[in-house]
Amino acid sequence: MALTEEVNRVAALFEYGPEDLNKGVKEYIRQMNEGLEKQGTMLSQIPTYVTNVPNGTEKGTYLAVDLGGTNFRVCSIVLHGNHTFSLQQSKVAVPRTLMEAKKATDLFSFLAKQIEAFLKEHHSEHFEAHQQKGLGSKEFFDLGFTFSFPVNQIGINKGKLMRWTKGFDIDEAIGQDVCGLLQVEIDALNLPVRVAALVNDTVGTLMARSYTSPGTTKTLIGAIFGTGTNGAYVEKLDKVTKMKDIAAAEGEASYDRSTGLMVINSEWGSFDNALNVLPNTPYDVDLDKESVNPGIQMFEKRVSGMFLGEILRRALLALYQNDEEVALFKDTSSADNDTSSTTTVANDSALYKQWGIDTSFLSIVEEDHSDHLRITKQTLELQLGVSAPSTEDCVAVKTLVHAIGKRAARLSAVALAGVVIGTDKLKESDEPVDIGVDGSLVEYYPGFEDYIREAFREIEGIGADEKRIRIGLAKDGSGLGAALIALVAANKAA
Ligand code: BGC
Repeated sequence: MALTEEVNRVAALFEYGPEDLNKGVKEYIRQMNEGLEKQGTMLSQIPTYVTNVPNGTEKGTYLAVDLGGTNFRVCSIVLHGNHTFSLQQSKVAVPRTLMEAKKATDLFSFLAKQIEAFLKEHHSEHFEAHQQKGLGSKEFFDLGFTFSFPVNQIGINKGKLMRWTKGFDIDEAIGQDVCGLLQVEIDALNLPVRVAALVNDTVGTLMARSYTSPGTTKTLIGAIFGTGTNGAYVEKLDKVTKMKDIAAAEGEASYDRSTGLMVINSEWGSFDNALNVLPNTPYDVDLDKESVNPGIQMFEKRVSGMFLGEILRRALLALYQNDEEVALFKDTSSADNDTSSTTTVANDSALYKQWGIDTSFLSIVEEDHSDHLRITKQTLELQLGVSAPSTEDCVAVKTLVHAIGKRAARLSAVALAGVVIGTDKLKESDEPVDIGVDGSLVEYYPGFEDYIREAFREIEGIGADEKRIRIGLAKDGSGLGAALIALVAANKAA
């Protein structure tokens, strides 16, 4: 079979048409409401005890730390109270060994040491004063802890880890209060720091976007499309009927009920783990089977940056290995007859290694409009050890990249549209509906937002109103957002 024909067949497996979209949104809204009613559902719909979003007038100095993937960030943030802020930060890579450490303290003591180093460098007076004479607790820094994994939150600075995602795997930490784990290590180093708030990165993004976005419209959704994917949104408190069950099981938490709102961390990475509506190609099936968490984060595994490269790798490898006649990455030029060909892939190619292809590879290929796909050619040579790929090879790779990336964007639209429609936001007023986003995919994947918008127009309940949906990048918003939540938490405690 000709290469083009076979590639088009595989690419078609990733098509996610208007009918699929609309079915997806309906199911999303169903699972979203189910998650508000009871515990233990696929969409976790976790109440965050954050009951309002900022309006840009907030002021003060706060610390924030961020653990959510490959890096750990520590920052201090000064809120100026006029939609602006200044920020100092440091960033370190989290050593792979700590992501899969035996004991939770291994990871958390590492985090506390980074906070200590940051204080020594940027707030040395404060740090020394506390080491020498011990500051009163009023002079402690309030810290917002952005911890971007599914946590069953039971208060503004308390929450038990439900499961790890994105390649982290420390069994001992599951079920433990992650704020407590961090505070113990901070205290062991005698730092003047109080963990005031537990923040998912999506909630931080929502807060940050709401603080910085122009005008008075408050933001509805904060979403991450990066290594992982997830969204948080503002829900009406009385729709969160499971609050009473949580209070019965964990004790009544104190939070401000006067706004009638509750920010919900959806954990949409686990939308439709049962695969009622999610597409499922053979490559999705194998990727899941060989992951550290089979059967969960099924939506994330089709959407987010950690997985798109791996889906592509599996599709390419299948094309390359499975069918002798399909001449992907095979040099047929010197063959005397059409049955002999030489393979051109290096033995140690990343094509053979799980997680061998990074999502940035897809961004480069999707963006390539050069003559004969010269850039794709170079990237295949450099990153995948394919020697002298043909233009036909490059076209094949690009076709698959496009199919996988576009499916991810259209699935992203399902979750976003589910929240927009499920909250009735477009009907409530004529105001724009504001969404803050962050993450490598929305930032760097060419056309990601355009594909989302195209899908919005195909969704019943949005259609032409797609224009009223405003999507804004809240770059690295989770640090600012964590500071804003620490502020609310600290004010309340005072
Ligand atoms: C986590 C979420 C997080 C998202 C984006 C997911 O894997 O479960 O808590 O918000 O990644 O970082």
